[in-house]
Amino acid sequence: MLFKSLSLSFLLLASRVLADNDNCSGDKNVTAQSDLDNIKSCSKLDGSLHVDNLQASGITVLNIVGVKEVTGGIVVSNSPHLETVNFPDLETVDGTFSIHDMTRLNSLPAPKLNEVGSLELKVLPNLGELQFNNGIKKANNVEIVNTGLQSIKGIDITNIGTFNINNNKYIQSIDMPQLETASSINIAANAKKVDVNFSKLANVSSDANFNGISNVFVGNLKSTKGSLGFTDTSLNNVSLPYLTSVSQSLYFMDSTDLNSLSLPNLTSVGGSFTINNTDLVKVSGFPKLSEVGGGLTLLGNYSEVDFPKLSDVRGSLLVESKSSNFSCPFKKSDDVIKGNDWTCKGAVSSIAKSSSVSNTATSDGSSATSSASGSDSSAEHGKSASSQKSGASTVAFSAGVVGIVTLFGAALSL
Ligand SMILES: *[C@@H]1O[C@H](CO)[C@@H](O)[C@H](O)[C@H]1NC(C)=O
Ligand SMILES: *[C@@H]1O[C@H](CO)[C@@H](O)[C@H](O)[C@H]1NC(C)=O
Ligand SMILES: *[C@@H]1O[C@H](CO)[C@@H](O)[C@H](O)[C@H]1NC(C)=O
Ligand SMILES: *[C@@H]1O[C@H](CO)[C@@H](O)[C@H](O)[C@H]1NC(C)=O
Ligand SMILES: *[C@@H]1O[C@H](CO)[C@@H](O)[C@H](O)[C@H]1NC(C)=O
Ligand SMILES: *[C@@H]1O[C@H](CO)[C@@H](O)[C@H](O)[C@H]1NC(C)=O
Ligand SMILES: *[C@@H]1O[C@H](CO)[C@@H](O)[C@H](O)[C@H]1NC(C)=O
Ligand SMILES: *[C@@H]1O[C@H](CO)[C@@H](O)[C@H](O)[C@H]1NC(C)=O
Ligand SMILES: *[C@@H]1O[C@H](CO)[C@@H](O)[C@H](O)[C@H]1NC(C)=O
Repeated sequence: MLFKSLSLSFLLLASRVLADNDNCSGDKNVTAQSDLDNIKSCSKLDGSLHVDNLQASGITVLNIVGVKEVTGGIVVSNSPHLETVNFPDLETVDGTFSIHDMTRLNSLPAPKLNEVGSLELKVLPNLGELQFNNGIKKANNVEIVNTGLQSIKGIDITNIGTFNINNNKYIQSIDMPQLETASSINIAANAKKVDVNFSKLANVSSDANFNGISNVFVGNLKSTKGSLGFTDTSLNNVSLPYLTSVSQSLYFMDSTDLNSLSLPNLTSVGGSFTINNTDLVKVSGFPKLSEVGGGLTLLGNYSEVDFPKLSDVRGSLLVESKSSNFSCPFKKSDDVIKGNDWTCKGAVSSIAKSSSVSNTATSDGSSATSSASGSDSSAEHGKSASSQKSGASTVAFSAGVVGIVTLFGAALSL
């Protein structure tokens, strides 16, 4: 009898412990606020938290209270009635913190959030501001696509993987003054005039693409191991005093206010080099540039083109100026241009559209990779919108340059 009641209470105790463990470990699918109440004593949730397709129309606010650490990911998605999702205690998410496809969401406070595996905010047209008051200090990848955000602040990361901000039509500023290195950067198809402060950014290990910006502070940039591009900007001048090399393509396109370039330390461009549709009267500011691995394309209204140290262009030459006062600085006999096609002339009435490979100056190589986990409509959305955008700035590259088809990124400083 005694034995029996002992073992019974032991069982009860054991089942209670088990129940507690159950509540705090394993993946949780939330279908009601009560599911969240069951985990509120779990300061650490050993698993992932999914709130997907929450249809109950009475729920407009979700409070995820008590949980400080999640060892898996957090996904809140496809719940059309949610207006607020609160994470008052959340500090760390080891996996991806992904909030997507919720048209009414307008508030996402996570005041203590410090560290996430990756951050994804997609298709949140009513989310106007980030409420990461503590500042996220660590994230591998950050992808913010098609939100109503007006600025990006509170992402205070020093070293980042993919940083992809596209199709946010209200964004006016992106401030990440702590950022020192990135594997890739894509800022594209946002509001027409975005101010970007990456004042400490030194190295990008793949591409950097700056599209649609009005100011960019990247004056500390030393190298990009991929491409570097500025397209569709309203910049007046670009000055990159420390930049020594771009391993793939370098391009300045569709920036009709751009009238001055200064890259005094740039010695080599690994891929093609393109300047098209700018306000430059004189192409200069490259006193040390000696090598271009692909083609050299300069299309505009130039009276002068000056590359004093240029000794080796592996691809073709396409230089056309509307100016009647332009005289070509290159001579076939110099043997600088190794590619087969040679065009260098002034007084053209309209600028060439060269044929062959068309190459888009956008993003989505990397955004496709980084959104692999969430194969949702937002990735498609971002993709189609930004490729629409890139239609305007499609560049045709000569066949010799096909290898570097991943035009993507850029960087710069004002
Ligand atoms: C949670 O939902 C996903 C699909 O949304 C499903 O694959 C998984 O089995 C669910 N897990 C639990 C514990 O219900
Ligand atoms: C654990 O979850 C169960 C329901 O699954 C709930 O009845 C119980 O109160 C929860 N335990 C704690 C400590 O929150
Ligand atoms: C960039 O941000 C840093 C830190 O907030 C600030 O000191 C600096 O003035 C900003 N640069 C520009 C050009 O706004
Ligand atoms: C950037 O790269 C250069 C050499 O390529 C290196 O000396 C420097 O330390 C790097 N800076 C950062 C912040 O990684
Ligand atoms: C170019 O780089 C050198 C170091 O390689 C540096 O000393 C110099 O200040 C740089 N030039 C400019 C204009 O910043
Ligand atoms: C080219 O630039 C000159 C001034 O440098 C200007 O007078 C002329 O209108 C420009 N032509 C075109 C087609 O933009
Ligand atoms: C033509 O170029 C020369 C030398 O660069 C310059 O002195 C002259 O003013 C230019 N003429 C016109 C009409 O732009
Ligand atoms: C140059 O820019 C114009 C206008 O944006 C575009 O039509 C043309 O295809 C571009 N050409 C090249 C070679 O980039
Ligand atoms: C443009 O030039 C001004 C004056 O030299 C400089 O302060 C500013 O940083 C430059 N802007 C860019 C984008 O390089």
